[in-house]
Amino acid sequence: MKSHSSRESERKEIIRQQKLITKHEKTIEKQKQIIARQLQALADSENALKVKDQLYLEATKVIDGLLKLLTTLIELRDPYTKGHSVRVMEISLLLARHPNLESHLRENLVVFGYACLLHDIGKIVIPDYILNKPVLLTEAERLMIQQHTELGFKLVEPLDLNPIIGEVILNHHENFDGTGYPARLKGKEIPLTARIVRIADVFDALTSDRPYRKAYSLEQALSIMEKQKSQFDPELYKIFLSLVRENKILPPAPA
Ligand SMILES: [Fe+2]
Repeated sequence: MKSHSSRESERKEIIRQQKLITKHEKTIEKQKQIIARQLQALADSENALKVKDQLYLEATKVIDGLLKLLTTLIELRDPYTKGHSVRVMEISLLLARHPNLESHLRENLVVFGYACLLHDIGKIVIPDYILNKPVLLTEAERLMIQQHTELGFKLVEPLDLNPIIGEVILNHHENFDGTGYPARLKGKEIPLTARIVRIADVFDALTSDRPYRKAYSLEQALSIMEKQKSQFDPELYKIFLSLVRENKILPPAPA
């Protein structure tokens, strides 16, 4: 039979354990509340992410729509260049993505594509009679049309867009041998983006109808480009020729 003192110590032990259990229960309750708050925060942030994704999607749609609108506006001003901006973008992206080209551009292909679409945006402010003149331009008219690079750059400069867009618009008529415009930059002074667009732009211009002449055939265009190849970045020109040989770059289909 247990003594009085032993029962007393058992009772104390039970009370102590009960207190411990109560304490653990409180801790568990607190932990539950913390977990519930964390779950709520997670749900809130997931909702925030969903809203962000939705906004991003909407913004992308707006940008794509505006780009199509701008491209159409450029082509409306200069109907002979119908489809030109898109073809320049396609050829330029083929060059930019080529495995033989070591470049940072692969991480910026979307922006580079936008830049290609907008490269001639400065033509919006060039008078129609010059853009559509059915005979060769006078020297003064040629100088006026050359201003489309700087005028286009001034149009996008205040918008604080990715710098790739401005550099393509401003420099896409610079030649590797320093004979281009507006700044007569030479070699690698010209941004890679603009050196790529230069080749795509020349090829598409030669193989398209112009107000003052019919389109050249692929062979004629390649022969003209070969004669003026000092204007092109030699590494890019080599890649361009290999893409033509592989039939990845083709002249535009006749309208
Ligand atoms: Fe141009």
